[in-house]
Parts: sequence; C-alpha cells; structure tokens
Amino acid sequence: MIIIKKAGDIKNQLVALTKIGISIGFVPTMGALHTGHISLIEAAKNENELVVCSIFINPTQFNDPKDFEIYPVTIEKDIYLLEKAGCSILFLPTVDEMYPDGFKNLSYFKLGFIETILDGKYRPGHFQGVCQVVCRLLEIVLPNKLYLGQKDFQQSMVLSKIATIAYPSIQIGICPTQREPDGLAMSSRNLRLTTEERLLAVNIYLTLKYIQDTIKPGDLTNVKHGAIAALTAKGFKVDYIEICRKNNLEILENWDGNTAIVILIAAFLNSVRLIDNIVV
Ligand code: PAJ
Repeated sequence: MIIIKKAGDIKNQLVALTKIGISIGFVPTMGALHTGHISLIEAAKNENELVVCSIFINPTQFNDPKDFEIYPVTIEKDIYLLEKAGCSILFLPTVDEMYPDGFKNLSYFKLGFIETILDGKYRPGHFQGVCQVVCRLLEIVLPNKLYLGQKDFQQSMVLSKIATIAYPSIQIGICPTQREPDGLAMSSRNLRLTTEERLLAVNIYLTLKYIQDTIKPGDLTNVKHGAIAALTAKGFKVDYIEICRKNNLEILENWDGNTAIVILIAAFLNSVRLIDNIVV
C-alpha cells in the first residue's frame, strides 16, 4: 500500500490509472478503523482493480468542537489493517490540503427535507460538512464506485443523493452494518466507552431488535415512547427513536404493515453519542 498526502499527487496518479482502464473503488473514512470499515475495503476490492481509502477527520462535520477534539486516532493500527485487507492507496491529507481556501465560502448543499430530520435536526450543519468533504474527496479520487456503510443510514442517503447529482458516473455501494458478537454496531466512537458503558451500549441494538420483533401495523406512538422510556431508564439520553419509510426517511406515525421501514436510534451514553438502525 502506498500512502499519499497531497491531493495533486494522488489525483495525477489516479487519472493516469483510469486512462489505462483501471477501475477504482473508494472508501472514505475518518480512521480509528474497525471490521466495519474493513468490510467496505473488502467489497471495494472484490469489485475493482484498485482500492483507495482516505482517512481524514473532517472538522466541518462536527457540530460539537469537543467531539472533534477527542475523536479517536489510531493511525498505526489503521495502516496495518488496510495493508492486511489489500488496500492499494491510502490518502492521508492535512486540513490545508482538503480546504486550501480555509473554511470560508464553503459550498452549500440543498439537501431539503432530509437535513431537517434525525441527525440533520440534532446535529445542525453536520450533513453540510459531510457533503463538503466527500465532494472534495470525489473530485480528487474520481472513483468508479464509492462505498458507504448502512450503519450511517441517513448519511448514505444524503451522499447518494448528492453524488448522483454532482458525479452521476460514480456508482454507489451500501454495505451492511458489521456488529460486535453481542450485536453492538461497530463504531470508532465505541473506543471511547468505559467498560461499564460498553456493557450498556448493546441496549441500543436490543431496542432496535425488540421494536423489529414486536412492531404491528397501526399507530406507532406507544412503541416509540415505550422504547425511549426503556433506554432512558438504562441511563441513555435519547436524541431520537424513529420509524421511517425506508426509501425517503419520512417519519411514520402510523404503519400500514407493508411499507418497507427502517428503525433508527441516536442516543448518548454520558458523552458518547451512538447511532444504529435496522431495516424491517
Ligand atoms: P466513518 O465514521 O469513519 O465511517 C466511514 C464509513 O464506514 C462510512 O461509510 C460508515 O457508514 C462505514 N461504517 C462505519 N461503521 C460501520 C459498521 N459497523 N459497519 C459497516 N460500515 C460501517 O462516516 C464517516 O466516517 C464520515 O462521515 C465520512 C463519510 C468519511 C466523511 O467524513
């Protein structure tokens, strides 16, 4: 695996490779890699001749500056895992490389409804930052296919929408959520959980499973309120538990029993914010 830090350098190399017909799969990340990230690298490897991964902790997507400051960094281990997984190029840019004009005059993305709900509502500006960085990365890497995780369901939907408009030639692959043996969704933020918090964290998944197993057509108010109360009693501060239409994330108050749905949770365990979802 080669490591490239300059946008100009990686762009030149990749343009040359694309010209001779090499297909590129791209996995953008913020590092602190785990098996979830590696599953995206593997999917990219199976479908392309060359895999590019980026590691960049993007300041513009952190609505809480404290969260940005303490985001886990495990670069040595990340490089080891990427090499082992068969990643070809790691793009490791600095902030100046990604934002050469600074943070003023950043692009604004018209995301509409999807930015007003769930993480869009609870993390103001977050999806603008995600779009800014991923569009910049796509402009540099110009892959054949972009790989994203279902773990960040709303992010995948936002990025699919933006990429389809701005880069219609880039295909998008959404990979299933990888979980710990007890069911907790793998996440870089899990590294910040204490032993006690780690044991409690699985309740997010258990709540999703409980809703999935017990949900019935009709009014969903009691299901949602019951689940929020149960997680709160276990010590979580719940941002949301919502049941949404799978294809557009419209929040459902009533379910007809046929519409494909996704159940989504975001909740804090002390200072660590965890998200997860399950498609029914
Ligand atoms: P990060 O949280 O590092 O995640 C990078 C990619 O890995 C995302 O597409 C995410 O959905 C996927 N991923 C994370 N946990 C996963 C799991 N348990 N199973 C499967 N896939 C998983 O998401 C970001 O970084 C950033 O917002 C980014 C898109 C890189 C823009 O900065």
